[in-house]
Amino acid sequence: MAASAIAAERIEPIPETSDAERVVADVVVIGAPPAVAKRVRDSVPLWFHTFALAPGVYTPGIARDHGYRLAVLGADRFARRSVLDVGAFDGFYSFLAEVRGARRVVAVDNEQYVDWVNARFGVTLTGGVGFRAIAGLLGSRVEYRRMDALDVRELGERFDVALCFGILHRVTDPTALLRALADVLAPGGEIVLETYGSRLATDAPPFEAHEPGDVYARDDFVHWGFSPDGLRRLGRIVGLDDVEVVDQLEIDGHPRILAVLRATQAASDVAAAGLKG
Ligand SMILES: C[S@@+](CC[C@H](N)C(=O)[O-])C[C@H]1O[C@@H](n2cnc3c(N)ncnc32)[C@H](O)[C@@H]1O
Repeated sequence: MAASAIAAERIEPIPETSDAERVVADVVVIGAPPAVAKRVRDSVPLWFHTFALAPGVYTPGIARDHGYRLAVLGADRFARRSVLDVGAFDGFYSFLAEVRGARRVVAVDNEQYVDWVNARFGVTLTGGVGFRAIAGLLGSRVEYRRMDALDVRELGERFDVALCFGILHRVTDPTALLRALADVLAPGGEIVLETYGSRLATDAPPFEAHEPGDVYARDDFVHWGFSPDGLRRLGRIVGLDDVEVVDQLEIDGHPRILAVLRATQAASDVAAAGLKG
């Protein structure tokens, strides 16, 4: 077989946008003029999120059906609150928080995706290009920081909500990531978390460890799968012992788990007493 045929075989096609992605995208109405919408859509060589740029004009995001996440992303979660979105990629959830009334939103990404997008799809992407395009259309005030989520303490601020979607399984030390997020929560704050689930039996160990490329061919950054018990254990380690598992399901052949992590009232009282003492 010719080298070019082998190379072409290794590249994953961009999936078709289905109604499932459009339904989620429609939650953030951008309303750009159609010509502008098409120009912006075509100016970004690969989109992760599907955005509704104008009636009938959507970005062809590679992320599949995020509808199940909307259950934990109502206006009551965001109104007048400060929000940190780690691993934001094109920033759909940062912009959703802003549209739903967050008073401040900080989006963080180390742009690790540039590597796996190139390996999986053969596309060379400039970090943050999709995020900046949407921020421009929306006139958004979301602050974008290219940084590692493990370093969020360096932001020097606290947040009412930390969104941690699609990233916990991509860091080598998930406890360190959760601890970093727990450390920047304001009193009463919460982590809204979505990550790769586990297919192990319920009486099996609470974490599944993946080989590089195991989950998505040529994507070496998916390390873990988490069961509800695994998330509860991690939560306890970082002082967030109230772990509400909201959903467990399979999307496009991949197990996913959605949860909200908070400190119990007793733990919050101890922490508050420590701050006063
Ligand atoms: C699968 S995407 C998820 C995007 C979005 N949060 C969502 O779930 O729709 C994972 C994102 O996390 C980012 N990421 C991975 N490890 C990171 C780290 N240590 N610090 C910051 N961002 C990271 C990647 O660059 C990528 O943008």
